[in-house]
Amino acid sequence: MAGKELSRETVLEALGKVKDPEIGKDLVSLGMIEDVKVESGKVSFVINLTTPACPLKDEIRGSALAAVEALEGVSEVDITMGAKVPVGQKKSAPSNIKNVIAVASGKGGVGKSTVAVNLAVILAQKGAKVGLMDADIYGPNIPIMMGVDRLGGSSEGKILPGEGHGVKVISIGFMVKPEQALIWRGPMLHSAIKQFITDVDWGELDYLIVDLPPGTGDVQLSLSQTLELQGGVIVTMPQQVSLDDALRGINMFQELGVPIFGVVENMSYLETPDGERMDIFGSGGGEKLAKMTDVPFIGSIPIDPQVRIGGDQGMPVSLSHPDSPVSKKLVEITEKIAAQVSIQAIKGK
Ligand SMILES: Nc1ncnc2c1ncn2[C@@H]1O[C@H](COP(=O)(O)OP(=O)(O)OP(=O)(O)O)[C@@H](O)[C@H]1O
Ligand SMILES: [Mg+2]
Repeated sequence: MAGKELSRETVLEALGKVKDPEIGKDLVSLGMIEDVKVESGKVSFVINLTTPACPLKDEIRGSALAAVEALEGVSEVDITMGAKVPVGQKKSAPSNIKNVIAVASGKGGVGKSTVAVNLAVILAQKGAKVGLMDADIYGPNIPIMMGVDRLGGSSEGKILPGEGHGVKVISIGFMVKPEQALIWRGPMLHSAIKQFITDVDWGELDYLIVDLPPGTGDVQLSLSQTLELQGGVIVTMPQQVSLDDALRGINMFQELGVPIFGVVENMSYLETPDGERMDIFGSGGGEKLAKMTDVPFIGSIPIDPQVRIGGDQGMPVSLSHPDSPVSKKLVEITEKIAAQVSIQAIKGK
């Protein structure tokens, strides 16, 4: 850029050519650049990613650095990385909740709650403000899996969620004994779900993760009527019977007009101590299903006994064994989902 003197404008012009590879737009028009300062040859600025769980953080920083370093007269570049999660939620939802992500499947026992819990704690660990709603009012498992057994009390007529591992948690399990059978009639069910939104003081949330019960029934409908779900993640296992049910889950969301962030395949394989992979339930089904329905395939989670142990002990595996292969996969999956949520939020604008 010979001839042009180094200034805020030339820096912004250079950054205006750097694209967020996933969203496909440049950093300046995405509003990601803040606080540009130029003092003699020293340039500093902030890059606000669209999620603290951005999988392309280093790549974006590198491209921005290269673009500014290439400007004439630059002696030093100081980039601060931050994150501001965009609002993806439609107008009818509470304004303090930026994004609502439902975790669903057609079938029971495929790992919805496991995915929901690990998604929530990983996002929180990365610095996001996260809530976890246990919408499985028939079989609430979240209190045990998160190691939280009570509400946070009440304030100004509103219920305060419980808190575990940096995540705000609400569950019908806080209000009934674990062995109490939960029989819900339609209207009661609807009002329970509604109360989880209207009567709970969630505070400011970047993400509210909703753990749905299995199936494609009333709770799903009730939720989508109460707060327009921004999108869903479908969890499946690799075997055909699970895929059939997952397809029903995808169809349900599509009928409700809820976008699907992607398909996650759980219990995909078992890694033996000598590094061999055993496909217990088959393999590749989740990916095929994603292709067939034209939704993103997010990734596969291996079988690891620590996942169950962590769930039973209220210490999600991503916290108890952060360096294990299954936890690394869960982080990767969280980052991909967060990226899809941002893409959806920005597209909706
Ligand atoms: N990848 C995995 N490896 C080992 N165990 C797992 C894995 N994923 C889930 N599990 C275990 O499988 C059981 C079922 O998982 P989970 O409760 O998350 O499923 P779900 O789909 O929420 O079930 P439900 O339909 O009953 O709500 C749990 O004991 C959980 O710890
Ligand atoms: Mg569950």
